[in-house]
Amino acid sequence: MKDKGPIKITRVKDSRLPHTDLSDIKFGTIFTDHMFVADFRDGKWQAPEIVPYGPMPMEPAAKVFHYGQAVFEGMKAYKDEHGDVFLFRPEMNLQRINRSAWRLAMPPIPEAYFMEGLKALVDIDRDWIPSEYGASLYLRPVYFAIDNEIAASASGSYRFIIIASPAKSYYTGEVKVKIEERFSRACNGGVGFAKAAGNYAAQFLATERAKKEGYKQIIWTDSKTHEFVEEAGTMNLFFRIGDTLITAPTSDRILHGVTRDSIIRLARYHKMPVEVRRLTVDEVMDAARADQLKEIFGSGTAATVLPIKGIGYREEYYELNPPENSYANLLKQMLMDIQYNRVPDPFGWRVKV
Ligand code: COI
Repeated sequence: MKDKGPIKITRVKDSRLPHTDLSDIKFGTIFTDHMFVADFRDGKWQAPEIVPYGPMPMEPAAKVFHYGQAVFEGMKAYKDEHGDVFLFRPEMNLQRINRSAWRLAMPPIPEAYFMEGLKALVDIDRDWIPSEYGASLYLRPVYFAIDNEIAASASGSYRFIIIASPAKSYYTGEVKVKIEERFSRACNGGVGFAKAAGNYAAQFLATERAKKEGYKQIIWTDSKTHEFVEEAGTMNLFFRIGDTLITAPTSDRILHGVTRDSIIRLARYHKMPVEVRRLTVDEVMDAARADQLKEIFGSGTAATVLPIKGIGYREEYYELNPPENSYANLLKQMLMDIQYNRVPDPFGWRVKV
């Protein structure tokens, strides 16, 4: 690694892989043998390491526990049918984690730590990547404050780790979503665009309430008027009204999804009508009532492209029956074929490990 020499690697004595059933995975519950760790202390980045995955001693006074100074990323490594392994647009995740870090007053992560850390971890644990089409290795870079001090100010020291988890679908079963009007996920000038840990905690209450009514996720609306649809929290959202695909523009309230951006670019490349513009709840519900709301789907690294089964708003509920030429299925296929190296990659998105 630039300036720091090679990443120091301490391998596990015995891999857990032979005792792990990769065919039966609940998302985010199984972790590979190793993890990447690098600390920022005394104003500089310390030598990075790959160590066995396991508990990390932390003091109860660590600032991350008190003030939530933590950001993260979600990405995946894909194995093709020859056993070659690829990351997908990792530079987008590097840019985003550093935008998130900036917003939370954290120093930027050097490109070499992020990229070479990812590649080294994926390489050492490459046998953990399921080879089944649709499965992958979910990668979770996390960056958090580790000063031990009760003081509501930015930490001086931080830890950056990357953990990895063999993965299949994030969502199982039908996904129904509910338009939320009371609580808000983000506001102007806030941290909604950042992948800040606290943004997710802020969603749990409303989501748990919606779950009791049979929904899996919330559609967040703008905090000021609740008139505009924004995102689903674990996913960005696309609405197909008639034959046009519409998604909200990113802003300081909406996460700049890598999958979202890839879907827009794929749709445009294939000359599908796609509009990036603000969209009101009324427009969505009027289209539903007029039978013009053909599809809603979510996009995200964990969820990939996820067709939504139904949408609830106040007392109304609409079930969606996607047409045969479902945009969600088409775009998901195009995206996955690039990710799994099944077709040429005209965008240069694949990065071989
Ligand atoms: C991802 O899509 O990778 C995310 O980080 C969302 C998370 C809720 C799983």
